[in-house]
Amino acid sequence: MNARLAQRPARLVVTGGAGFVGANLVRWLLLHRPGVRVLTVDALTYAGNLENLAGVLDDPRLRFENADVCDADRLGRIFADYQPDGVLHLAAESHVDRSIAGPAAFVRTNVHGTATLLDVARAHGGPRVVIVSTDEVYGSLGPSGRFSEDSPLAPSSPYSASKAAADLLALSYHRTFGQDVVVTRCSNNYGPYQFPEKLIPLMISRALADEPLPVYGDGRNIRDWIHVEDHCTGIVLALERGVAGRVYNLGGDAERENLAVVCQLLAELGKPESLIRFVADRPGHDRRYAMDARRARAELGFSPRYRFELGLARTIQWYVEHEAWSRRVRDGSYRRYLEDTYRSRLEAAAPCAV
Ligand code: NAD
Ligand code: DAU
Repeated sequence: MNARLAQRPARLVVTGGAGFVGANLVRWLLLHRPGVRVLTVDALTYAGNLENLAGVLDDPRLRFENADVCDADRLGRIFADYQPDGVLHLAAESHVDRSIAGPAAFVRTNVHGTATLLDVARAHGGPRVVIVSTDEVYGSLGPSGRFSEDSPLAPSSPYSASKAAADLLALSYHRTFGQDVVVTRCSNNYGPYQFPEKLIPLMISRALADEPLPVYGDGRNIRDWIHVEDHCTGIVLALERGVAGRVYNLGGDAERENLAVVCQLLAELGKPESLIRFVADRPGHDRRYAMDARRARAELGFSPRYRFELGLARTIQWYVEHEAWSRRVRDGSYRRYLEDTYRSRLEAAAPCAV
């Protein structure tokens, strides 16, 4: 166990806690590490949805700060007040297609925001920072082999290049300043609260509405799917047990062609495959990802729990049961959730009073 985390009820900062992985991580921490205090920092971009934290926002162990990770002064005040023992850095622009349409926001948040966060952490006692990176930093695989932590970095998209920059900045801060950082690189997540621009929630919501399903290229690209809860477990194990300055691959041992995923999802929903439309390919589209996570198994005790077919069936069930959540995200009304439900209470609350 990382020494600082063992000293007192750990105070953790989670950036990006209103996004998909972040919200699942906040929930995971409150459930599985009951002594913990969590402060989440999130700018609430289009991908941030406070409704993802519904039911836990009132938990006295959780505080929310609507702040931008590029804002050094604001972050500095938050860190000075809260004195975190650990930081889990997830805030990012995360969608490859958006990065192709407009790279600038990705450079700003993913590169500048990560450097800002690392600087602020270093200036405030140097709590361990876990940088939540991605398998996309390695680029694309051919039909065989898997990425290890020693594979060369060869990002294909502005998104993955900005994540590689963040990931390498963190490692450079360890080497240069001795800062306590750990990097996790994970494969494709699926599960509850994922913004329906990503393959699985997009296809579920479109299939439920009997809308055509756009499959890029020939649909034979392969992703290594991991349930978001397994990713959260890996991130927390890296925080608690990881070696400073080290990289840990996390993967789900579930390589699937996109087309197979879409067909399984249609079968689960009882919808016809005639909804599938093959559309123009994504520029620079990586063909295959597969993770060798043996280091995380050996050093962190990481082992994904979910079998993909079961995890996907449960995920589909979640989206069916949370049709109102999906509708509010699709029609944009989720952006009013803050105003409607929490603004007055959040503003009345004393900052960082946990
Ligand atoms: P997401 O887009 O669902 O959530 C991102 C969150 O970050 C949102 O709540 C958004 O409001 C917040 N944010 C964006 N810019 C910000 C800024 N400047 N300041 C503060 N907050 C900001 O993304 P996700 O899928 O939950 O991914 C979270 C992290 O995990 C990212 O760093 C991503 O690269 C990484 N990751 C994701 C996956 C995956 O499959 N989803 C896999 C590997 C790694
Ligand atoms: O591998 C980890 C990465 O996984 C994370 O770092 C990213 O944040 C996350 O967005 C995800 O990136 P991908 O580009 O792999 O995910 P996406 O859901 O956008 O696409 C998955 C695959 O499905 C990819 O091969 C492109 C394809 N696709 C996607 C969409 C949105 C389609 O065929 N049609 C679509 O409409």
